[in-house]
Amino acid sequence: MNKEKRKILVTGGLGFIGSHTVVELQNEGFDVIIIDDLSNSKIEVLEGITSISHIKPEFVQLDLKNKELVSEFFSNHSIDGVIHFAASKAVGESVEQPLKYYENNIATLVYLLQEMIKNKVSNFIFSSSCTVYGQADELPITEKAPVKIAESPYGNTKQIGEEIINDTTRVEDLEAIVLRYFNPIGAHESVKIGELPIGIPQNLIPFVTQTAAGIRKELSVFGDDYPTSDGTAVRDYIHVVDLAKAHIAALRRLLDGNNKEKIEFFNVGTGKGNSVLEVVQAFEKISNQKLNYKIVGRREGDIVSAYADTTLANQELGWQSKLTLEDGLASAWKWQQKQS
Ligand code: UD1
Repeated sequence: MNKEKRKILVTGGLGFIGSHTVVELQNEGFDVIIIDDLSNSKIEVLEGITSISHIKPEFVQLDLKNKELVSEFFSNHSIDGVIHFAASKAVGESVEQPLKYYENNIATLVYLLQEMIKNKVSNFIFSSSCTVYGQADELPITEKAPVKIAESPYGNTKQIGEEIINDTTRVEDLEAIVLRYFNPIGAHESVKIGELPIGIPQNLIPFVTQTAAGIRKELSVFGDDYPTSDGTAVRDYIHVVDLAKAHIAALRRLLDGNNKEKIEFFNVGTGKGNSVLEVVQAFEKISNQKLNYKIVGRREGDIVSAYADTTLANQELGWQSKLTLEDGLASAWKWQQKQS
């Protein structure tokens, strides 16, 4: 089969990272089929994707918790690889409703893997998170850093998910790449797709852009007494388009049989840490306006500092981030202005 026409299933393909990855897959000549239950995404995203790539991806509205429907889907489609984004991701909600998170993120993973194995689909890419490292003892964080006890059920689902995949690769015909994302930000340069937080944003960048747009009164900066250069917490903000491209590199590695282990783990970040106040200042410069913010107490469960050592992804995937924090903020701001 012509490898450029391989069919890739993208679960959660209408979500923030999923939609950007679909566009990159289409740019690279892959056939894409999206599964999404629309629980945290909008059907309009399909139009956004189509107007960028000029290719309408196949779309199946399906809840992965429905084991029978997942089985039926695999019986009816011939798939060469799966990129699995579909999951719930609100940390606070996961504390309130742990079983919802274990069902949405773990039961669905099990069903998906069972069907992949049954149907001899062996290439799997999993969305994980730097949250598995907790507060790492050494910075930048390499993939060798130990996984720490999770701070939330959400974080735990990522750890358990990794373990489930690991155990499965030991005994089944399954080749997996786990991508541990740092903090994804930004929007596609066309501003036809971007982040669509439902309700009050929990993440920094959408809160910043909504504050600048007048939707939120002011940004609360959570803590300025951390042991960092300006006292605010440090993260590695990776542009979503760069992040999407890391999935293509990982997929090609699997499809070309270049993976060295049946399961491999890669950090996906820029390698650069920025403090919350640095983000605020960069945003003010880009938007040419002052941002209304106040310093408040630390947010429970937050870590001080996390940024990636990306050497492994650079060397093994031949991937590295190209876009800057400023690119991410500028596109997020353009996207926000289009919404309001
Ligand atoms: C959060 C999650 C993490 C998840 C990731 C997904 C928590 C505790 N952690 O990571 O598990 O994998 O999102 O994207 O929720 N900040 C403010 N004011 C705000 C919002 C954020 O000061 O209104 C600060 C935070 O304290 C943090 C930084 O901005 O220092 C980034 O926050 P956020 O975007 O929520 O990401 P993480 O906390 O890194």
